[in-house]
Amino acid sequence: MRERREELSELARGLARTPKTVSSRYFYNERGSELFEAITRLPEYYLTRAERGLLTRIVSGLIEEVRPRALVELGAGSARKTRILLDAMTEGGRAAVYVPVDVSKDFLLETANRLRDEYPALEVRPEVADMERGLRLAARPQAPCIYALLGSTIGNFTHQEAVRMIAGLTSGMRDGDVFLLGADLRPGAGKSLEALEAAYNDAAGVTAEFNRNLLRVLNARFGTDFDPSRFRHRAWYNADKTRIEMHLEALSAHAVALPGGPVICFQQGETLRTEISCKYDRTAVCSLLRQAGLNPVRWWTDERGRFALALGNMTSEGDSP
Ligand code: AVI
Repeated sequence: MRERREELSELARGLARTPKTVSSRYFYNERGSELFEAITRLPEYYLTRAERGLLTRIVSGLIEEVRPRALVELGAGSARKTRILLDAMTEGGRAAVYVPVDVSKDFLLETANRLRDEYPALEVRPEVADMERGLRLAARPQAPCIYALLGSTIGNFTHQEAVRMIAGLTSGMRDGDVFLLGADLRPGAGKSLEALEAAYNDAAGVTAEFNRNLLRVLNARFGTDFDPSRFRHRAWYNADKTRIEMHLEALSAHAVALPGGPVICFQQGETLRTEISCKYDRTAVCSLLRQAGLNPVRWWTDERGRFALALGNMTSEGDSP
């Protein structure tokens, strides 16, 4: 109940800002998670395929170097790309521990049960946790452990939030443990601005539906009366802030009621920012890792220079990437 009250006042604060903002965590009800899964299969949304291809290319070298006994995956979701790591870790029947961490309990337990069936040598220990609120695992997994934050999830946090989140995680890391980060790259040599913006403006309109679905989630959770048909989806690259911004733009002037709070007025053309998706380069990733207390040791990009994986550890040895 207290949590709901806090969320409602956070929502009111966001709607009082210019531009109006709302937390992107409200994308992910059941329908939102399905829509996101559909986004990952869209021809325009290269991120998932590029990361999977890259992970497949580097996984054997990574496992050989780290020799992990455990994998902690933050924001595990359906754990689709995790299988690339789990296959390599459990090759030849080798035992390992997998700790999928996610906010969505039902989704997490379903994933955990599926993986237990698929990987008999794997001990699966799911943990429900909200990454935004800091991560404290119930039991420390055996070292060496790979802590993985894949899928460009990091991009949905501001720089400060990202540093805080990774630093919270690294406080529990030991020598030999590593942090594996998946980051989408800025437009440049390997990726045009058009290709980047198209990933968030697909022709089939799935991302638009994903964006508008957030209003239905707000209505169900807080009793607001947003009418999704009065908004259109907009997404663009903000070059100054090196991030994609996703907004919902009011098609006409209208008001929305916030239970127990003020009436929210939208002017025609005014937008509600629903998501940021930060894009990185090598310098930005290394500095993020360093600020979170990690030493960047490896850097890989896909062959077209669209997506990167970076590895950080706790020691000061190792080559700078
Ligand atoms: C979950 N996250 C990494 C996605 C992204 O690309 O920032 C969310 C998304 N929003 C629109 N399309 C995908």
